[in-house]
Amino acid sequence: MRSMLWKQWLLCCALLLVAGQALAADKPNVVILATGGTIAGAGATTANSASYQAAKVPVDKLILSVPELTNVANVRGEQVFQIASESFTNAHLLQLAKRVSALVKQNDVDGIVITHGTDTLEETAYFLTLTVHTDKPIVLVGSMRPGTAMSADGVLNLYDAVVVAGSPDAKGKGVLVAMNDQIDSGRDVTKMVNIKTNAFSSQWGPLGMVVEGKTYWFRAPVKRHTANSEFDIDAIDQLPTVDIVYSYGNVPAGMYESAAAGGAKAIIHAGTGNGSVADRVVPALRKIRESGVMVVRSARVPAGFVVRNAEQPDDQYDWVVSHDLNPQKARILAMVALTKPRDAKDLQRIFWEY
Ligand code: DGL
Repeated sequence: MRSMLWKQWLLCCALLLVAGQALAADKPNVVILATGGTIAGAGATTANSASYQAAKVPVDKLILSVPELTNVANVRGEQVFQIASESFTNAHLLQLAKRVSALVKQNDVDGIVITHGTDTLEETAYFLTLTVHTDKPIVLVGSMRPGTAMSADGVLNLYDAVVVAGSPDAKGKGVLVAMNDQIDSGRDVTKMVNIKTNAFSSQWGPLGMVVEGKTYWFRAPVKRHTANSEFDIDAIDQLPTVDIVYSYGNVPAGMYESAAAGGAKAIIHAGTGNGSVADRVVPALRKIRESGVMVVRSARVPAGFVVRNAEQPDDQYDWVVSHDLNPQKARILAMVALTKPRDAKDLQRIFWEY
């Protein structure tokens, strides 16, 4: 009698285990890679929404702080870094992208979420857009308030990011950023406000929205990305130095000369207006180009795009224009493009296509 009961108990346990696995099998498998930032931040009081310490809360606590995640996905976390994102370096970009590339090759991974500080989130998002060969959703997410603050935005942002990363309809749309109910393209999005929850926007508009655990799409990217990129993180082990010079009235030519002397393979000119170059700076930039360093005209103006051969004879000077990419995005693209030797004509092609 006793052995019969024992066998029945074992059978019940086994059935529960299988049921548990079966329930989990109907949910996508999402890996959360944590790098730090405000979403992992902590303030002294609930009133501290802007003054706090970033990069304090570990990934397992982040996941536990949003129990609803288990309703939408099988989630597991990895702590890749624990830093404020202004401290990202090229080495961090390479390490993170290589980890993402390895994970998306696994059959038991359906999507990736990367929790990240908002300061350089747009740079990481574009770097992954250019270098990770996959059509699986890769979704970056941050927050503008620490989890300890009243009306903290990180909890819903993280939930939304996991929903998007687990959504089959998010496949093939490039690297995405899920913040403030919005889904933006990793290429287009930029941080436009430094202390509000609607910090991020794309001048060409978001790709979609995520509301109450459901994604709604309104457009798709037209520029090359991820699986359709000619750049592959698995073949990149070093990134060239590319620096940005912010232009303004009275800017000295020496700013550009010291960037070139510092070993930059390209200089991104964050120009006034349509990427304009002061007449006293033109000779220095032409000399820099003739020395073999690429010159890319971008603009400090947040919207629009830089027109080639407008006020500056780019064809004659052999310069490149950044199209609609802001200086920090232009730097990421130039850095990836110059992992291989190429002339300015080919670099300009890359700026049109990506
Ligand atoms: N130190 C900033 C960063 O890590 C905090 C901003 C944020 O994450 O929202 O990017």
